[in-house]
Order: sequence, then structure tokens, then C-alpha cells
Amino acid sequence: MSEKKSSGGDFRYAVGAAKVPWHAVGEFYNGMDASELVKFLLPDAGNAAYAGQLENVEKEIRKLAEVSGRASKLTLGKKVAEAEETAKKYFGSKYACFVDNWTGGMEIAYKLTGIGPGDEIIMPAVTFIATMAYPLSMGAKIVFADIDPETINLDPADVARKITPKTRMIVPVHLGGYPVDMDPLMELAKKHDLIVMEDAAHGMGGAYRGRKLGSIGHFGGFSLHEVKNINALGEGGVLLSNEDWAGPQFPGGRFLGLDFSRKIKDWLYDISPLTDRFGRPQVALNHSATEVQALGMLLQMRRLDEIISIRRKAAEYMNEVLSQEEGILTEKPDTAETYGTHHLYLLRIDPEKVGGDIQKLAAKLAQKGLTNITHFGPMYRFKIMKDLGYDENAIAATCPNTERMFYSCYTHLPLYPLTEEQLKYQAQAVVEAVREMKAGR
Ligand SMILES: Cc1ncc(COP(=O)(O)O)c(C=O)c1O
Repeated sequence: MSEKKSSGGDFRYAVGAAKVPWHAVGEFYNGMDASELVKFLLPDAGNAAYAGQLENVEKEIRKLAEVSGRASKLTLGKKVAEAEETAKKYFGSKYACFVDNWTGGMEIAYKLTGIGPGDEIIMPAVTFIATMAYPLSMGAKIVFADIDPETINLDPADVARKITPKTRMIVPVHLGGYPVDMDPLMELAKKHDLIVMEDAAHGMGGAYRGRKLGSIGHFGGFSLHEVKNINALGEGGVLLSNEDWAGPQFPGGRFLGLDFSRKIKDWLYDISPLTDRFGRPQVALNHSATEVQALGMLLQMRRLDEIISIRRKAAEYMNEVLSQEEGILTEKPDTAETYGTHHLYLLRIDPEKVGGDIQKLAAKLAQKGLTNITHFGPMYRFKIMKDLGYDENAIAATCPNTERMFYSCYTHLPLYPLTEEQLKYQAQAVVEAVREMKAGR
């Protein structure tokens, strides 16, 4: 696979210094707008002092606006470039692309891999629909491999069983931020000439055998949606790769193939297709991300390691309390080889010892005021799969651990930003609920 030519991704009218300039930004934001942004990020929480403080801030912002310039590049500018440089350094990846969301990032990777009708992609069934949306839309076949009951992550042994001559990709998901056992998957990929893309939507900052999650496969990346460990003002994504045949094409993949390295006659640029792994042209769509999104990620990335260490301590506390009650199976702790992000706390039970399944426990936990959400419903059960001709029960029969774990054995609990009191209450409530079940209540 040869190195592909880089394609620029940033379209701007700005023509530089001129007597009559053409600005990149059609309408600038002003001081009033900046005040509204402050109010949006720091809303009134009912504190009596808020109105007075806000008045001071608004006055100062008005003064500042009188002497300030205006943000003159709002998308695909310096902040996006900084976000990408920061990501390359932090994750140790050769290429990084900041995108509108991780679903968009995965689409670029799937396109570069050349995924099309009839190709088989192996992934777990317990993940978000986003993991399979692009290959499903292309008429590729999703093959669900079963999960390891201890981590509920993809089981490499079942992946090996499900590889066929039509398999093109393996897509492990570091669910809840717990690292998938990547080495056996990379070995399988090498043996069968497959591409591995890590869905590390929950895994930003985690590591496996000294390598950051998302940087191990041919592709990998993160979601910066608001519910994730860190976000990019609500939405965002980062796509990583070390592959020279793919990485240089990221900017074109993100922005419609605009290619500033070439021009057609009398015009600013050319449009180049992506060249997929098999040398075929692929049409890029638009997954541009804004400067403010990039800034949002950069600000929160500064505290990422600290956030993970707080989550880790919270998970250790949950494990400590829950391990004292028979029938509760605590989350697999970090080891010398794995460093999870603890995005979700994985609570598992042995239904026989507890005298009931997770559905009963989940209802009890909800009654006690806990929020528990089992991430995620097995994807082969969704209507879209039936309508596309998949047989849910036949697939379920090939994923016995997925079925048993999802319906009977696990749920997820939050860890952050819980107060110490909330965390204690949560741990105690789980123990009490399990004791009630054991007592037949
Ligand atoms: C496992 C998983 N994969 C992919 C995604 C998609 O990420 P985004 O919302 O940034 O497109 C999510 C987001 O919730 C997710 O949880």
C-alpha cells in the first residue's frame, strides 16, 4: 500500500491582506454574544449572588469587546489543528483528525478500508448503533462475535471462529472504557489481512500493555459527545491512525475531498476522491468540526488524567464494598497491563447465588433512587436488523454470553462526578438490594 497524497480540508474565502478583503466569517460574534455564551456555560443555579455577579461580568465583557478583535475563523482553523497535534502527542499516533462526531470519524475509516456490499465486519452486539451504522448503510454484513463474560468486551476466541473469506474488518469496542484484549485481535488481523478499528468512544485516556486505547489498531478513535469522559462542547470525535496509506487522506475524508494540492483551471482547488485500501475511489462527505468544539476538547483534555484517576478511585471503592457480598461480581480492576477509563461501572451478579436476575435487581436499584443503564441493547434485536434480513434468534444463538449477560447478569452504574456521599449510598444500595433478593423479597 503506497503513501497517498495529502488533501487539504479547509475551505476559506479569506484571501489575506487586501484593500477590500473577503472575510472567512460572514458575521462576527460580538460582546453581547460572548455574554450569552458565558450565561449558557455558567447558568443561574438559583444562588442569590448570581444576578449581581453576572452584571459585573457582562459589564466587563462589554468593555473588553470595545478593545478586542473578533474571532475570524470558526471552523477547521488553528484550534482544530492544535487539537490534532495534542491528540497525536497524547495518543502517540502518527495521524489524528478532529471531526464532528465519532460516527463521522468511523465513516472515514470504513471508507478508506473500502467497505462495501457483501463485506463482513466482526463486532460485538453490545455497543451503540453508531459502530455499525456505516457498514450497514453500505450493505455490508455485520457479524456479531460473542463477549467475554468478565469484561463484556469482544471475545477474541469467538472472533477467530467467525472469520470467513469475506471478513474485512474487526471492530472491538472498549466498552465502558475497559480495554479489549487487543493483541490476539491484531494477530488475527495480520494472519487474515484484516483491518482493525478500535471503537474507543468510552476509552479516551485508557491503555493496554503500555499503548493508549485507540492507537493500537489500524484505526481508532473517540467520541466527545456530552456523556463521555470528556467532551467537545457537546459533540466531537477524534480519528487516529499510524497508517501512511490512510492518515494523509483524513483531511479530504473529513471535508468532501477538497484538494488544495491541485487546482482545476481557473478555480481554487480540485476535488479528489479518497483512495481506499484496494485503490478504488470513494466519495467523501462533510464531517468538519468547529474551532469552539476543538477548544472544548483541548480544555477538558488538560484534566483527562485527573478525571480518570478520580473515576478509578470510585471504581475501587465500589469494588471494595461490593466484593464483601456473595453473588455480586465486581468490576475487573486495572492491572499492570490494562488501564481502564472507568467510564461506566460494570456491575455483574450471579443470578443463582442472588436468587434473581439483573432485571429484578435493576428495578430494586431504581426504587432506591439509583440510575442504572445497561449499555447497550444487543444490536441484532433492533427492528432495522430484521428489516434488513437478519435473523435475530439465529444470531442470538451464536452469542450465548451476550444473551445471558445482557438479560440476566449485568448493568452499569455511574461513577463520576458523584459525591462521596452519593457513591457510598450507591454501593450500600446495591448490597441491600442483593440481600433483599436473597431473602426472597
Ligand atoms: C460505543 C460507542 N460507539 C460510538 C459512539 C458514537 O459516538 P458519537 O456520538 O460521537 O458519534 C458512541 C456514542 O455514544 C458509543 O457509545
